[in-house]
Amino acid sequence: MTRFDPSGPLRGELRPPPDKSISHRAALIAAMSEGTVEISGYLNAADTQSTRQAVQQLGAGAESSASDRSGAIDLRVEGIGLRGPGLHQDQGTQVIDAGNAGTLMRLLPGWLAGQERGEWVLDGDRPVDRVSEPLREMGAAVKCREGRLPPLDVRGAALRGIAYRMPVASAQVKSCVLLAGLLAEGETKITEPAPTRDHTERLLSAWGANVQTEQLRTLPTLGGGPARRITVQPAERLTGSPLDVPGDFSSAAFMAVAATIVEGSRVRITGVGLNPTRVGLLGILNRMGAALEVDEDPERFEPTGTIGALHGPLEATRVHGEEVPLAIDELPLAALLGCFANGTTIVSGAEELRRKESDRIATVVEGLRGLGAEIEATEDGFAVTGRGGLRGGRLDAHGDHRLAMLGAIVGLASREGVEVEGMHAAAVSYPGFEADLRALAQGK
Ligand code: S3P
Repeated sequence: MTRFDPSGPLRGELRPPPDKSISHRAALIAAMSEGTVEISGYLNAADTQSTRQAVQQLGAGAESSASDRSGAIDLRVEGIGLRGPGLHQDQGTQVIDAGNAGTLMRLLPGWLAGQERGEWVLDGDRPVDRVSEPLREMGAAVKCREGRLPPLDVRGAALRGIAYRMPVASAQVKSCVLLAGLLAEGETKITEPAPTRDHTERLLSAWGANVQTEQLRTLPTLGGGPARRITVQPAERLTGSPLDVPGDFSSAAFMAVAATIVEGSRVRITGVGLNPTRVGLLGILNRMGAALEVDEDPERFEPTGTIGALHGPLEATRVHGEEVPLAIDELPLAALLGCFANGTTIVSGAEELRRKESDRIATVVEGLRGLGAEIEATEDGFAVTGRGGLRGGRLDAHGDHRLAMLGAIVGLASREGVEVEGMHAAAVSYPGFEADLRALAQGK
């Protein structure tokens, strides 16, 4: 049990750990490339260690050295090429453990599915049904337990390009199909019902793949959102280049929200990724009246910048539709902000939350209610009425890193403090979280 007491103002500056989504993709796509790729600031956390180990198991080199950034290592990846895993497989079926890493569990099968001579078993604890369906359609033999659970058996095949309309907006599913599309015969088209994070498209394009994105006119059959179509052409090879991973917006978001709800706070967060497909929370905070300043750095392959966050009064808001995928991992924070806002904050259209590291509708509602919130679960989100803050108490993280961090910041902003059961889960994405938060509380 880890205790977080009510705090005085949070003050200071910090640089969040490297982006988890980009780190996974960088290691995986570097392994798919030819030659050596230097990744500066690879997230050194449990999830991304699983990806590093997976690519090593497949035959790629992934040597690390110390980084001057906190929560980071520098990684030098020796790629094995797009068709490398099939060629390197000489001793029967290999078992690869994805652990808790959803991104690895969903993206890796896309690469493996196109290896005509390969057979793998992917183990882990995240459902895999969403990627099995399009991969089968492309011609791969994939099998999972009870139609949705790992282990996932992947027998590679000569793939064919497909036109795939994703039933839900998921960057992981999109990315899986994009990777498989590189190895398929003919082009592959993916339609997403609403824009999702586009790190895979950016990285593939930068490293030589032909990936095009079109904005579609609203499609009533897809819920009327601004759907996008992404087309990938088969590739002979990818050529990686040095990459500097930006800070993780999803990690920075905890500190920005903490500053917003702890009285008197003023915090600066530097080197944060500001990819427009990730920063939906900034729009939500803006509508709620939060005092934020965002400065963009000159653009590299991913936009980055500085976020200044100040404590201030908040108004309730509604979050729904196309905003959901842009803030999917930050919706627990939207619920917390709602506890400090004037009025009722409603999040809807977010049934995806039930499929995250925990059922985040259930765990957020149960967790915040236990700390004094007036919050109700709905089928596809939650409704929370602000009552001037939270009392505090005990919160069980249910093994979910984002829930553990949520509990910690509530502790600082609450009247009586919070004891978090399972704080260690934070190491999945932000190993230095507790130290960084306590440093801000001490005004360092
Ligand atoms: C991720 C995409 C999101 C997100 C997850 C990371 C990614 O999942 O919730 O934490 O790296 O692509 P979905 O794509 O399934 O919504």
